[in-house]
Amino acid sequence: MIIKERFKDKVAIITGGADGIGKGVACRLGKEGAVLAVFDINRELLDSTIREFEGLGIQAKGFVVEVSSESQVSEAILEVERLWSKIDIVIHAAGIVGPTNTKITDFPTSDFDKIYEINLRGTFLITKYTLKVMKKAGKGRLLLIASIAGKEGNPGMVGYSSTKAGVIGLVKGVAKEFADTDITVNGLAPAVIKTRMNENTAPEQLAYMTAKIPMHRLGTIDEVAAMSCYIVSDENSFSTGFVYDISGGRATY
Ligand SMILES: NC(=O)c1ccc[n+]([C@@H]2O[C@H](COP(=O)([O-])OP(=O)(O)OC[C@H]3O[C@@H](n4cnc5c(N)ncnc54)[C@H](O)[C@@H]3O)[C@@H](O)[C@H]2O)c1
Repeated sequence: MIIKERFKDKVAIITGGADGIGKGVACRLGKEGAVLAVFDINRELLDSTIREFEGLGIQAKGFVVEVSSESQVSEAILEVERLWSKIDIVIHAAGIVGPTNTKITDFPTSDFDKIYEINLRGTFLITKYTLKVMKKAGKGRLLLIASIAGKEGNPGMVGYSSTKAGVIGLVKGVAKEFADTDITVNGLAPAVIKTRMNENTAPEQLAYMTAKIPMHRLGTIDEVAAMSCYIVSDENSFSTGFVYDISGGRATY
């Protein structure tokens, strides 16, 4: 259910916002009044997503950003601040899976390095540079998308599981650095959500992950958007350093 004007006058950065979960959350934030800065590496997809948003009456601008590049991240964030003078909300959804159904003994180190660069270094950079802006206002909401794989560890996905565990550690530590301000830093740990990310996941791996969900189904982008929008809303003000669950009952802690 759209809550009209919940995010009126808010400036929101959404990384990985051209597709999947990021796009779904961005769309809902935009429909509820936020101005969107959409970061993504895929220029073509980004352009079509921005056109789609504009067609819905959403104010959005696309930024081609590789989240593992310090210069690209810092420059794009500076540009957002220059354009709108503030950053109220960050949803960091850019990420990759890498090899699946692959034991660590066969896992290419180059793939591990790439997953680390995007999933963990990228999260560090987005968090670092947006907090530099948010701390001036002493107010803001950051939501970093982790994964159930980071909480529990999925076998066959060492790169993904360990970098998402790193994101969880980052949320818990960094949130406390700002807990005496009105800046909150939270995480979200989804189980399998129906997006393009899972298209190349090995069928055995997908079957393993789905079988572990007591609700016996995949989550939807709309469900993730609904929870994410609550987490980054003003009324969610006494919760920081927490990793929210959206796993159909897989995680009960
Ligand atoms: N789909 C799931 O089942 C699931 C489950 C748990 C966690 N997650 C997490 O949710 C987030 C979003 O996943 P999704 O399923 O929407 O994925 P997706 O592949 O559908 O979308 C990811 C988006 O991020 C962009 N992107 C990828 N690498 C990038 C980079 N280096 N720099 C900038 N942009 C980049 C892609 O172009 C794409 O638009 C990811 O962090 C993922 O790990 C997804």
